[in-house]
Amino acid sequence: MCGIVGYIGKRDVAPLLLEGLARLEYRGYDSAGIVVNSPKAGALKMVKAKGRVRDLEARVPKRFAGTTGIAHTRWATHGAPSDLNSHPHLDPENKVAVVHNGIVDNAAELRAKLEADGVVFASETDTEVITHLIARSQADSLEEKVREALKVIEGTYGIAVMHADFTDRIVVARNGSPVILGIGEKEMLVASDVAALIAHTRQVVTLNDGEMATLKADDFRTYTTSGTTTNATPETVEWEAASYDMGGHDTYMHKEISEQPDAVDRVLRGRIDDRFNTVHLGGLNLDPREARGIRRVKILGCGTSYHAGLIGAGLIEGMARIPADAEPASEFRYRNPVVDPDTLYIAVSQSGETYDVLAAVQELKRKGARVLGVVNVVGSAIAREADGGVYVHAGPEVCVVSTKCFTNTVVAFALLAVHLGRIRDLSVTDGKRIIEGLRKLPAQIQEILDGEEDIKKLAAEFAEAKSMMFIGRVRGYPVALEASLKLKEISYIHAEAYPASELKHGPLALIEPSLPTVAIVPDDDLLEKNRAALEEIKARSGRILAVAHREQEKADHTIVVPKNEDELDPILMGIPLQLLAYHTALAMGRDIDKPRNLAKSVTVE
Ligand code: F6R
Repeated sequence: MCGIVGYIGKRDVAPLLLEGLARLEYRGYDSAGIVVNSPKAGALKMVKAKGRVRDLEARVPKRFAGTTGIAHTRWATHGAPSDLNSHPHLDPENKVAVVHNGIVDNAAELRAKLEADGVVFASETDTEVITHLIARSQADSLEEKVREALKVIEGTYGIAVMHADFTDRIVVARNGSPVILGIGEKEMLVASDVAALIAHTRQVVTLNDGEMATLKADDFRTYTTSGTTTNATPETVEWEAASYDMGGHDTYMHKEISEQPDAVDRVLRGRIDDRFNTVHLGGLNLDPREARGIRRVKILGCGTSYHAGLIGAGLIEGMARIPADAEPASEFRYRNPVVDPDTLYIAVSQSGETYDVLAAVQELKRKGARVLGVVNVVGSAIAREADGGVYVHAGPEVCVVSTKCFTNTVVAFALLAVHLGRIRDLSVTDGKRIIEGLRKLPAQIQEILDGEEDIKKLAAEFAEAKSMMFIGRVRGYPVALEASLKLKEISYIHAEAYPASELKHGPLALIEPSLPTVAIVPDDDLLEKNRAALEEIKARSGRILAVAHREQEKADHTIVVPKNEDELDPILMGIPLQLLAYHTALAMGRDIDKPRNLAKSVTVE
């Protein structure tokens, strides 16, 4: 989705902003633009381009000097991707420049009013409304002009504003779309994602909704949209700039898949208590008495995070014996759900910024519910909105499709399940058994990754398929759902996931030699049932790839994965299917890190 980066200081701003935009490319976008102050005060200089950041870079003239600037990558909402619709948006006098993430809900109404007053719009965007409102304000300060404009705007925004008459500052504001200040030595930055800041500073301030800031080269100030000072203090970002590099891999996806042993080690570190065979989760804010009072658990997330939540619900119900289920957050918030005080709600989000999840959390909080977050990005909106939670510590994930975050989220759920279970009915022996299983995960994941060459050979075969079926039963079903999503996202092969138990209730009609089925067949109490499903497919001449703990006779190929505890097997069974999706997409020549039409973090509805 859209990205913002801005700078004020002494350095030549254009190369710095272009590099920042390149760091934001992973979020998905269709056009880009940049504006810098002209050393001779009174005008701003702007370049915009439909396409990639390198297209913008090619258009930036040699003489484009300036020490203050804002830049943007746009993901079209109002108006098609085009040079004109790209941000920044300037007023006709080239005095005010605005970059904006989010959506102005009342843009049509405001535009009609402005047009009736004689304003001529240069683009079809909602953002241009903000520019004209600021430009027309009679207020004395830039802060006041922005504040006046925001008063009439409904919707979500993260904005950065420059003004040719106030060249010593950039004014920024946040409502529902991330704005992060980067605090440097005699220079200040702003971005919608730490990825664009981290090469310059690790001291950051994350604005809250309803907060604004003024950035000057040697100073920053935060305050609310109604003008009250908030005195935000900088925090240190733990992630390293190097985490955003490809590190010798051809794609971020491959890098992130291969990082999983270390990532899982990180989510476990410091949390296991061998004395009581339990798990300590520092930020949960849930005392044992409260944990015992939970009657239900409802997990909310979108896409891959929803799939992690489905596995999480199984883990919590199985170990803590609390009825638990997961639901897409995007659906939950529109069906006027009954909000129950004895239910623990858990919001899952890799980015911590997904609008559908954030809106569900806000609705729940408004109704008095207790909400925990299972989130990767520290200090993100969902993490801050929740009453407590568990960070998944996967490190930055740059590829648009999630792999290591998914795995770490499921491990975080396993930790939460042990924690709740040991307060309730999980025995010491079972607690110990699961903990030992968790400790085995990094080495077992590595063992699966070491078999990559074999999976690559299989992928060459699957790259020919027009469509694929994924099946799994109970614990295996969310694994099938996630594997099918991964395949369709990056290869664009149509894929369906079904519970294996549902085959004969309909999808069996699809089975024929040209439709391969990937079956999740763990060695657990459901092994025979799963084998029966393989028989049904084979009897209809279907081709089968099994992911199992031993060779499956009925399958054409079996990927054998190491056995862990039954409860933790889904974590391992998903890993070879990430590699299968990856190598299938690679064999088809797809743009793996940036699949078409998708954005990394969906901060609009
Ligand atoms: C798919 C994928 C998406 C995200 C979803 C929610 O590979 O990554 O389905 O999981 O858009 O994003 P987060 O987890 O950031 O809330």
